[in-house]
Amino acid sequence: MPEFQTSPGTRDILPPESTRFRELVRIFADVVAPAGYGEIIPPMFEDLGVFHRLGEATDVVTKEMYDFVDKGGRHIALRPEQTASVVRAFVQHSPLVPWKVWYAGPNFRYEKPQLGRYRQFDQVGVEVLGANDPYVDVEVIALAWQFYERLGLRRVTLLLNSLGNPDERRRYVDALAAHFTANADALSAESRVTLQRNPLRVLDSKRDQDAALVEAAPKIAEFWSDGTAAHFETVCTGLQALGVPYTLAPRLVRGLDYYRRTTFEFASDALESAQNAVGGGGRYDGLAEDLGGAPTPGIGFALGVDRTLLACDLEGAFAAPDLAPHVFVVDTTGGREALIVTNELRAAGLRADRAFENRSMKSQMKAADRSGAALAVIVGTNERDTDTVVVRPLRDGGEQTVIPRVALLDTVRKHLEP
Ligand code: HAM
Repeated sequence: MPEFQTSPGTRDILPPESTRFRELVRIFADVVAPAGYGEIIPPMFEDLGVFHRLGEATDVVTKEMYDFVDKGGRHIALRPEQTASVVRAFVQHSPLVPWKVWYAGPNFRYEKPQLGRYRQFDQVGVEVLGANDPYVDVEVIALAWQFYERLGLRRVTLLLNSLGNPDERRRYVDALAAHFTANADALSAESRVTLQRNPLRVLDSKRDQDAALVEAAPKIAEFWSDGTAAHFETVCTGLQALGVPYTLAPRLVRGLDYYRRTTFEFASDALESAQNAVGGGGRYDGLAEDLGGAPTPGIGFALGVDRTLLACDLEGAFAAPDLAPHVFVVDTTGGREALIVTNELRAAGLRADRAFENRSMKSQMKAADRSGAALAVIVGTNERDTDTVVVRPLRDGGEQTVIPRVALLDTVRKHLEP
């Protein structure tokens, strides 16, 4: 065992998986940028206070924060998510509204590590600030849906709910607290603790013992005002118009406290149920004000990159892009020819690789095969002295040819044509 290993809950993402990871982010940008979203790159740490607004009763704040006092005496936290940072940036820079941004990057939560749950994990997401229109909700949700479709995921379900405005939500939480308190004896010990801290989260319990009481709990829709109901109805009909299927989830509560009205989650049934959320989001109309700005509606989502890729593995979707070299250069003259030839091929936009250490022809040909290259370009002393090279197809048979050195690029390109 080497002395140093990745610390618990963190991973090295090695090639070729890293290529797939980056490709996922590229596809995400490809989906959201044409819809008018610009990329924001906020810092990975902020004043701890920024994240306190996620809710004093949430695990993310009370148990999972990576916080420390820096050398200047500031209380800092590694970001557990990016919505709060985006809203802090909005308040700080006062951009024109609606402000539509997307982001990609790591987040940090001190959670119990398991498959699909890490202490450093990546998200891609969007946020829209300054628009109350329910069609913004539809746009945002549909973008996430289209992204999953682009990846080829088929076993993702969109769960949709509205948590009401703050007043409706408060009355709902009171009613839930009353319901669970009256039946506290029948609740699991864990849920009795949750009840004291955050009655909404009892709805999240997956324990059999709690199932009947959760089922019998009041539903948020009973507390919606006409305005909230109408907003939600427009979101539903908008999604229908775009052909985005959804499941109404009246007991969907999210892990963060800032949510108001429209809330949603994407669940993959390819994953274990405890970690089946591949993404989620909703409205957080009070967050800008909480962070010292003017009251500003906001909505967005974040999708877990690590979990989404796990779901892709399990569904056999979104294979890593083929980044094998186009050409592997084999040089038996000492290595200088390979230096020049790979450089020329790369300058022409081709992927070209080579062997080092002046290995034997046999060993270099083996390396060429292993690389997955389509072609080997071979230079021996004979070729070097006659200004020629050998081009040998590696994958689909075909005869090797000796060509003039000057014809190299044209010949390679011809071979690579589909
Ligand atoms: P969240 O539900 O906490 O929401 O996280 C979104 C997604 O990030 C989850 O569905 C999951 O896929 C992934 N995720 C969360 N924690 C972990 C972890 N420990 N390991 C692996 N993946 C994880 C938010 O973060 C909100 N900021 C979403 C949002 C944006 N709401 C409005 N705008």
